[in-house]
Amino acid sequence: MRKGKFIVFEGIDGSGKSTQMRQLGKYLEERGEKCFYTHEPTESPFGELLRACMSGKIDADEHTIAALFAADRLDHVQNPVYGMRAMLEEGNVLCDRYYFSSFAYNGGVVPLDWVIELNRPAMELLRPDLVVFIDLDPEEGMRRISRRTERERYETIERQRLTRNKYLEVFEKFPENVAVIKSMPSREETQEEIRRVAMELFGGRA
Ligand code: TYD
Repeated sequence: MRKGKFIVFEGIDGSGKSTQMRQLGKYLEERGEKCFYTHEPTESPFGELLRACMSGKIDADEHTIAALFAADRLDHVQNPVYGMRAMLEEGNVLCDRYYFSSFAYNGGVVPLDWVIELNRPAMELLRPDLVVFIDLDPEEGMRRISRRTERERYETIERQRLTRNKYLEVFEKFPENVAVIKSMPSREETQEEIRRVAMELFGGRA
C-alpha cells in the first residue's frame, strides 16, 4: 500500500536540484511528514558500475550505459530492502533524478523511443506524483559545474543544451504532473515556488 507521495527532482547538471530537494524535505518534515531521500544513479552495485562508466574508469558505449541506468532504476523501484516502493509504504520519497533523466540524457545520444521502452517497466510500476524540473540556463549550469574538480562524461555546454531541449521535448510527450520551475538567482525564491506546487499534493498551502 502506497502511503506517501513520490516526488522527483530533475534538471541539468548544476541546476541545484539536490539542494532544493533537501530543503523541501526539511520543510515537509517540519510539518510532520516522514521523508526518505534517494537518488539515481543509486548507491547499489548497479549504481557503482554506472559511476565507473561516467567517470571513464570503464569504457562503455552509450547503449550499454542507457541499459544500465534502466537496470539500476528497476532495482531502485523494486528492491524489497531499499526499493522506493517499499519506502513509499512508510512515508514520502524524494528522489534526485528518475526516468526523465534517462530520456533527456541517454535519449539524446541513442534512440529516444528505445530508451522509453527500456524504462517502460519502471514507468508502469512507479509513476511520480510530482516531477519538479528546475530549469536552468545551460551556460549558467556550465559556470557552476566548472567550479567542481571532477568532470563527468556529459558535462559540456553542447551536452547541457541538448539535455535541456530533450527534457522539454519529453515533458510534451508525458506532461502529467511536471512542474517546470525557473531557477531564480535566489535559491530561496526557487524553493518558495517548489513548495507552492509540492504542497498541492498535501492538500494545503505552503
Ligand atoms: P548527478 O545527478 O549529477 O549525480 P552526482 O551528483 O552523483 O554526480 O548524475 C550523474 C550523471 O548521470 C548526470 O550527468 C546525469 C547522468 N544520468 C543519465 O545519463 N541517465 C540517467 O538515467 C540518470 C539517472 C543520470
